[in-house]
Amino acid sequence: MAANVLSHPHRFILVSDLDWTMVDHNDKENKALNAFNQLWESKFAKDSLLVFSTGRSHALYSELRKEVPLGNPDVLVCSVGTEIFFEAAGTSPEANKDWAAELDQGWDRAKAIEIAGKFSELSPQASSSLPKTQHEQRPHKLSYYVGVKGDEAKGVISRLQDALSQAGVRAKLIYSGGVDLDILPEGASKGKGLEFLLRQIKEAGNAPKDGVMVCGDSGNDVELFAVPGVRGCMVVNAHDELKDWCNANASPQIFQASQRCAGGISEALEHFKLISQ
Ligand code: GLC
Ligand code: MG
Repeated sequence: MAANVLSHPHRFILVSDLDWTMVDHNDKENKALNAFNQLWESKFAKDSLLVFSTGRSHALYSELRKEVPLGNPDVLVCSVGTEIFFEAAGTSPEANKDWAAELDQGWDRAKAIEIAGKFSELSPQASSSLPKTQHEQRPHKLSYYVGVKGDEAKGVISRLQDALSQAGVRAKLIYSGGVDLDILPEGASKGKGLEFLLRQIKEAGNAPKDGVMVCGDSGNDVELFAVPGVRGCMVVNAHDELKDWCNANASPQIFQASQRCAGGISEALEHFKLISQ
């Protein structure tokens, strides 16, 4: 497993969210993304690791690849940190089983669905363009749309958290983009998925000498920024969910970019002097 990624050291690891971080859906020509791809290929690809960490399932990630010129990640993390693919290519690659087994502990998926079903403000996400088996309800991620906004949404989320705890379901709720609500096992998140990956890399004796930088724009990215020792790049178009966290945890390790999406990532690589000569 993962022989290519773990078998030798990398200088640096870049971990990026996709929608509205690597990919600017408003940039029809993908100018900033193409420029980032070129920078990565010329200055990083030979000695560094590219990790995509997305809220999307593998099926929806494959859809995105058809729409925009994404580079090839060395490791792909899907479904808000819950599915890690060391071999990202192919139509149905297998998610890492050790990570799935860790997430299984104390997770009662059926009970979580039953409890969330009692909240009239929540409607389950489904992707109409894909077969049912490929939609966004995953083994360790249940996803809903929240039909109310602002404080009302916060109220719903906190009542759901209480109901889950009272029923003994150890779950984590993640609110993103002011509309998506993910219910995950308590020990899951993009951050926890990254910690699992970094543990594998360190155990193989391959800690990256120039460290790790994470990039994001919304609520499901917050825990990436909280991984001990990483640098962070928040793109200028970030949502309040991430902005508020970055403001409350301001440090020289967190860079608030002045550019949107991939433009902000390139800017951060320059800011932290990570571009090899
Ligand atoms: C992606 C996923 C969706 C999830 C959202 C926020 O859009 O497709 O299921 O709720 O990310 O994490
Ligand atoms: Mg995003």
